[in-house]
Amino acid sequence: MGQSTSEALEAKAPEPFIRVTDLSKSYRAKSTITHALDKTSFTFRRGEFLSVVGPSGCGKSTLLMLISGLTQPTTGAVEIEGERVKSPISDVGIVFQEDLLAEWKHTIDNITMQGAFRKIPKDRLRRRAVELLDMVGLSEFADVYPHELSGGMRQRASICRAIVHEPPLLLMDEPFGALDAMTRDQMALDIQTLLEGLGTTVLFITHSISEAVLLSDRVLVFGPPPGRIVDELVVDLPRPRHLSVRETPEFAAITGRIRSRLEDMGVIRDRAETRPGALYSTAGGQ
Ligand SMILES: Nc1ncnc2c1ncn2[C@@H]1O[C@H](COP(=O)(O)OP(=O)(O)OP(=O)(O)O)[C@@H](O)[C@H]1O
Ligand SMILES: [Mg+2]
Repeated sequence: MGQSTSEALEAKAPEPFIRVTDLSKSYRAKSTITHALDKTSFTFRRGEFLSVVGPSGCGKSTLLMLISGLTQPTTGAVEIEGERVKSPISDVGIVFQEDLLAEWKHTIDNITMQGAFRKIPKDRLRRRAVELLDMVGLSEFADVYPHELSGGMRQRASICRAIVHEPPLLLMDEPFGALDAMTRDQMALDIQTLLEGLGTTVLFITHSISEAVLLSDRVLVFGPPPGRIVDELVVDLPRPRHLSVRETPEFAAITGRIRSRLEDMGVIRDRAETRPGALYSTAGGQ
């Protein structure tokens, strides 16, 4: 189960929502050029949850910035519904590792702030914000300032803010990166609840192989810098996905393949394996 190429998915939906073609990005600073992304091509189906995992510096955030139009490629193109992205797109929600909440606004006003820019009627926006807060267990915290929230609560609020206007596309760059393991688990459940039935297309960047597999329809594995796709896995585990799915052999097969791909490329190094007996040797009377 689980491993096949994207062709099977594309056969079902020949018109991709997003097409990334030969995308490269180099940054020039004084006399140095950094090649962040190297001729990357892939597509997203509408409503697909797509994760990108890969080592630090392989161009994951750069990819997100290019898809959002916040930065422009050196070569190649991003097209959304056939339209080339040439400037920042507006029909999108973005969540970064830092929640970027406005400290002087109550939680609910932070959430409705985004929609207000988009000229959505205030009462509709507020109703939706109340619904979202309820879905993530933050109803009681609607009228407090962000400094009264825990890290996990703040990040939940920032996800609510990103989706309150129901954008067709949600871009998340290590949104749970600053949270402890238990809170991350809760966030993974919450994100599924929040997106249920909305048909949102999601790009999710993470360093966690397990989180990527738990949440995604498909995982793109990036190699060492400059970033390019070195593997791609379809995750066809049934939804909704509970945390216990991580204990199944099907789940382990997919995470195992990603891990070994990263090991093959030297991104993950198991030093115990290269020094047989180093950890478990009983030599020397231990
Ligand atoms: N604005 C910029 N100017 C110059 N170099 C940049 C800029 N943004 C990113 N880079 C460089 O491009 C490369 C890719 O960076 P990027 O932030 O996309 O990596 P990443 O995969 O998101 O890493 P991480 O997992 O650590 O967040 C890095 O070498 C980085 O230093
Ligand atoms: Mg990054």
